[in-house]
Amino acid sequence: MRHHEGPGAHLKPMLDLANLLSTYNSDTGEVSSARLQERHLSDLRGCFADASAYQAALAVKDPLIYSVAAIEPGSAAGDLHYGLGRILPGKIGQEYFMTKGHAHAQRSAAEFYFGLAGEGLLLLEDLATGETRIVPLRPSHAVYVPGNTAHRTINTGRQPLVYLGVYPATAGHDYELIARKNFRHIVTEHNGQPRLLPRPNSLA
Ligand code: F6R
Ligand code: ZN
Repeated sequence: MRHHEGPGAHLKPMLDLANLLSTYNSDTGEVSSARLQERHLSDLRGCFADASAYQAALAVKDPLIYSVAAIEPGSAAGDLHYGLGRILPGKIGQEYFMTKGHAHAQRSAAEFYFGLAGEGLLLLEDLATGETRIVPLRPSHAVYVPGNTAHRTINTGRQPLVYLGVYPATAGHDYELIARKNFRHIVTEHNGQPRLLPRPNSLA
């Protein structure tokens, strides 16, 4: 039997979550006591389909695209990790600002997303079939990302997109897969609306 860590020890993750949301700084995406990871445009090399628009934007500056404040209360099987993501609004060419995207290293690990502010989408690609779908991510909307699914979060709005992702502590993040193959589809803006298209260079 596991050593008892004192009264209420099992409530710690819940208290951490309350703390996470109550100390959230909407200007920076920071949360006290959470590790903040920031991704700038230069970190997303190879992600955007329009390579010349990417180079042109990077030649001007290297803006922050998104940040994740991660809370990792424990790392045993059964524990949960959660991250507060914040993607800034913007586009490279016609493609919206987005995360690098990943599959979980433990392929069967699912994830629960919950929208807190702004407007966006989750791009979901089934690793077995390649089937792709986009699912809206808005305040108070929950999105279930099944296991064996590569996922990328996209800000389609004019405000920061803020969301919570909750996943097994053992999930791990595989970025290599995306760096090698990328997603088969992209999401671009047409007449002010998001549109899902096959990645142009994957048509060749
Ligand atoms: C965790 C998860 C999210 C992402 C966040 C940033 O499994 O899916 O918390 O980590 O949206 O995206 P990536 O990790 O792709 O840079
Ligand atoms: Zn994930």
